[in-house]
Amino acid sequence: MNNENIIEIKNLKKSYDHGKIKALNGIDLNIRKGEFVSIMGPSGSGKSTLLNMIGALDKADEGYIKVAGIDLIKTGDLSEFRSKEIGFVFQLHNLIPNLTVLENVQIPMYEGSYSNKEMDERAKELLKSVGLLEKIDQKPTKLSGGERQRVAIARALVNKPSIILADEPTGSLDSKTGDVILGILRDLHKKENVTLVMVTHESYVAEMAERKIKVRDGKIA
Ligand SMILES: Nc1ncnc2c1ncn2[C@@H]1O[C@H](COP(=O)(O)OP(=O)(O)OP(=O)(O)O)[C@@H](O)[C@H]1O
Ligand SMILES: [Mg+2]
Repeated sequence: MNNENIIEIKNLKKSYDHGKIKALNGIDLNIRKGEFVSIMGPSGSGKSTLLNMIGALDKADEGYIKVAGIDLIKTGDLSEFRSKEIGFVFQLHNLIPNLTVLENVQIPMYEGSYSNKEMDERAKELLKSVGLLEKIDQKPTKLSGGERQRVAIARALVNKPSIILADEPTGSLDSKTGDVILGILRDLHKKENVTLVMVTHESYVAEMAERKIKVRDGKIA
């Protein structure tokens, strides 16, 4: 096991509405490379905001956050960081309805320098690993919720990210389908040493992680 911290956060703060809403109120958190961490906490406590900061979807106001060697507050353009290092799996998977399953998975690859052949092979390899090879030419609207979530996982992994950020990835699924999705994420974490940070409301899901973290009022409890 590696002891290097891939995520380092010190006294991180983020507010909305001109300071009225303190979504993050001094977060201190280190996560090691290859670790599987679950995050629980009440609604509105700042869990999604924290994931958004780690994935550089939004900027913090104050404090320090370094992810995969990049200072996310000091660095200007983070689009390369995002597409190279981070795979996002959210509850609302945001698949594009008029693209096929295969094309949806390939979206993040446009940020990289892949040939058409590489894009095809990589996306198909991942769709195979989530059991959807026979659906590659379908539109997402024709898929079940669990199938859509598997497409979103394939898309999150297509650039071989070092970190997967999952925000209630099973929240909208029935428990059987949810277990399939969790199995895929756990396998990835085990086999490819991907760092997995997962927000969940379910304590049995949180129990699967190597470390459980609780967020309360914008702080680590
Ligand atoms: N873009 C935004 N503009 C204004 N307020 C926001 C914004 N995003 C989040 N907030 C507020 O920040 C606080 C933290 O929200 P966040 O989404 O991080 O909570 P959460 O822990 O993920 O909750 P849930 O479990 O319901 O998903 C909440 O009070 C929320 O209303
Ligand atoms: Mg949330």
